[in-house]
Amino acid sequence: MSKKIAVLPGDGIGIEIVAQAVKVLDCLNQDFDLNVEMEYGLVGGSAYDETGSPLPEATLKLAKESDAVLLGAVGGYKWESLDIAVRPEKGLLGLRSELELFANLRPAILYPQLAHASTLKEDVVSGLDIMIVRELTGGIYFGQPRGIRTLGNDEKQGFNTLIYKESEIERIAHVAFETAMKREKRLCSVDKANVLECTELWREVMIRVGKEYPEVELSHMYVDNAAMQLVRAPKQFDVMVTTNMFGDILSDCAAMLTGSIGMLPSASMDKNQKGMYEPIHGSAPDIAGQDMANPLATILSVAMMLRYSLGSEDLAVKVEQAVETVLNQNLRTADIYTDGDNKVGTEAMGDAVVAALKV
Ligand code: IPM
Ligand code: MG
Repeated sequence: MSKKIAVLPGDGIGIEIVAQAVKVLDCLNQDFDLNVEMEYGLVGGSAYDETGSPLPEATLKLAKESDAVLLGAVGGYKWESLDIAVRPEKGLLGLRSELELFANLRPAILYPQLAHASTLKEDVVSGLDIMIVRELTGGIYFGQPRGIRTLGNDEKQGFNTLIYKESEIERIAHVAFETAMKREKRLCSVDKANVLECTELWREVMIRVGKEYPEVELSHMYVDNAAMQLVRAPKQFDVMVTTNMFGDILSDCAAMLTGSIGMLPSASMDKNQKGMYEPIHGSAPDIAGQDMANPLATILSVAMMLRYSLGSEDLAVKVEQAVETVLNQNLRTADIYTDGDNKVGTEAMGDAVVAALKV
């Protein structure tokens, strides 16, 4: 039976990069016996423009009935002044929470071909391979109460709530330990347990769950130190697990170690291997529509989809190898280009990956 993928390009460069990932899926359907059906939906600012909501009912229904979701990016200058309740980002957050995609896997891998593109010294980053496991449906992003209220003296006060139940920490802990078991069996849990009670509980639960995984070496680090260590000596990390907001920040930091945020995919999983796959970068409205964006993060997100939701490790590896091939051919979009490389646009990069798949 064919599997169904909801394709949600979103805004800005989301449209161009998803088009390249769809080319890859089309090629796998035609030449490699993948059997997926794709259906498009609106999300983010473009959805708001057309329907008045960044997450229309039809899109949510499509996402719910699909086996996996491929998402581009949401947001742009045009929608920045909208009320927070209908901003493009709400489309993305709504999908995460409605589909209960609580486990966000963000690998930061340095391709040797791009070692010189990092802003850090080559010896600090070469061979880098970190997996950040970010809790995605709880914490301060979703905690109640939240809002902006007016105090008695007419002064406004903004407030959000950092909140985690034991069960929410436990389930992300299991994902993190399982992930570590398949890698080097080292897990660093990042918190701010010296200041925030909520993450004191986080640490306590991590230690408790860790007893079920005696082979995994569990360590703990405060988030400020973790940010520093990521740029000082990033190779000390194997798997990192952290809260929604700390994970948001640390994953951007880790991404930059690899030279370009344009290379990094992500998977957001529910408890049944259903997932939403997207590049970790944003919609980059400044370069949208100019055939400049790097489609490789989205194409690598397709590889993650093949691996985690479509049960096709073979094809996942094939896609990853095709990406290696185009890098070996010295093809580079602007974000990873240095003198002497062969500069290509979004379309040409997508075509090159498809060509590499076919050989
Ligand atoms: C990310 C993004 C999102 C987040 C935004 C677009 C809501 O930064 O996926 O990291 O904060 O989670
Ligand atoms: Mg982010």
